[in-house]
Amino acid sequence: MSLDSHNGNTNPPGGRNGEGRPTSNGPSRPEAVTILLILEDESNRRSTRAALNGLAGVEVVGERFELRSGLLLARQRHPRIVLLDLQDGYEEALTAAGQFKMDMPDTALFLLSNNLDPQLLLRAIRAGAQEVLKKPLDRALLQEAVERVSRSGAARSAAGARARSITTLFSTKGGIGTTVVAANLAIAMKAHLGVESVALADFDAQSSGAAHVLGLKAERSISDLIRAPRLDSAALQMNLLRHSTGLSVLAQPEDLANFEAMTPAQAGGVLDALSSSHDAVVVDAPHAFDEVSLEVLDRSTTIVLLAELSIPSIRAARRALEVFDRLHFTDVPDRVKVVVNRYTGTRGFITLDQLFEALQVRAYHTIQNDYRRVFASANAGRALCLDDPDAQASKDIISLAAKLVGREVPATPAEESIRRGLFGRKVLR
Ligand SMILES: Nc1ncnc2c1ncn2[C@@H]1O[C@H](COP(=O)(O)OP(=O)(O)O)[C@@H](O)[C@H]1O
Ligand SMILES: [Mg+2]
Repeated sequence: MSLDSHNGNTNPPGGRNGEGRPTSNGPSRPEAVTILLILEDESNRRSTRAALNGLAGVEVVGERFELRSGLLLARQRHPRIVLLDLQDGYEEALTAAGQFKMDMPDTALFLLSNNLDPQLLLRAIRAGAQEVLKKPLDRALLQEAVERVSRSGAARSAAGARARSITTLFSTKGGIGTTVVAANLAIAMKAHLGVESVALADFDAQSSGAAHVLGLKAERSISDLIRAPRLDSAALQMNLLRHSTGLSVLAQPEDLANFEAMTPAQAGGVLDALSSSHDAVVVDAPHAFDEVSLEVLDRSTTIVLLAELSIPSIRAARRALEVFDRLHFTDVPDRVKVVVNRYTGTRGFITLDQLFEALQVRAYHTIQNDYRRVFASANAGRALCLDDPDAQASKDIISLAAKLVGREVPATPAEESIRRGLFGRKVLR
């Protein structure tokens, strides 16, 4: 049953376009409608897969049997459709699905259910579902539903939907550079890699550091934002600081008298507003597993677990990974990345291999220890990556940013001229 009154009525019967195939996302090149399945029951999964296999232009991009890990995977893969099987006690699943739908408004939610009783349909509408399909799945009805989504996809891509990107820097142990790396990572994305709109959000109420690292005075802050009557884009714009590079910064209040405690729902709302208005969001997270940081971590597309090669830091990282495991954060491949800060190479007592032994996860990246230059730029209120882009720590952060956003590090002017020089000489010879 379609719950979307805007579609259905206006479309021709049969729901096919002139070419006899589902309408694509783009006007010229047909793109597959991506679908992710969350189905507990194996036989149900098999029959659903069989029903989908025959549909032209449909691509199954993931399958999970467990609700939470399925929704996490969907947050990362950003499929066009999530097909979710409702078991008898559907309340929890509908609450989670409703939350997911708020985060990913572009993803259509299809629910599979044994019955279509009015109570369930009402709850499904509230959760933002597009379709509720009765089990056993009727293939023709499924096909029609997919085609409805496919047609609305053309409008969606014309409107330029934005995939969420929230990279959260986290370490339960303080003092190892979470704030410095978060701030510089955001600068690197904006200034070095040309990501158009980037926001840095400081959720660590204990230290209020991110704005400082960039030399900004927190005249407006996240506390003002959550005090605003409505958490909408106007309120967001009013309370963002603007760095000279164009980076948006949502700071902690300068003055503790302005501090406003935040609920997890407010934290989620802030991230929603930021991620729907920026191509990339970088979060400086609190150094604890409290309700707010769990909410932030849960909504992050990438979690950068920062560690240094010391026993206390590695122990803290191991505990954090255990918690991530228990919360299913690690079910999504590559979502959690261990990054070593203050790396001293062969001069350190602990090697990257030993880190791997302790964590069973390889370091994704290392950032050179460069105390003098990091300290000097932080003291001067300038971002290291701008102030001193040739420092090894800057280069490491810029290449980390490049890996995370999937872009090439542009050659620096110095490297460029060396390369030109080399080619020049070759030509002369
Ligand atoms: N790569 C690095 N090399 C040297 N010092 C660093 C590096 N990264 C951070 N620091 C220093 O570590 C200290 C703690 O950094 P900070 O970002 O405030 O940590 P956290 O947010 O984890 O508490 C600061 O004095 C900072 O200058
Ligand atoms: Mg900090």
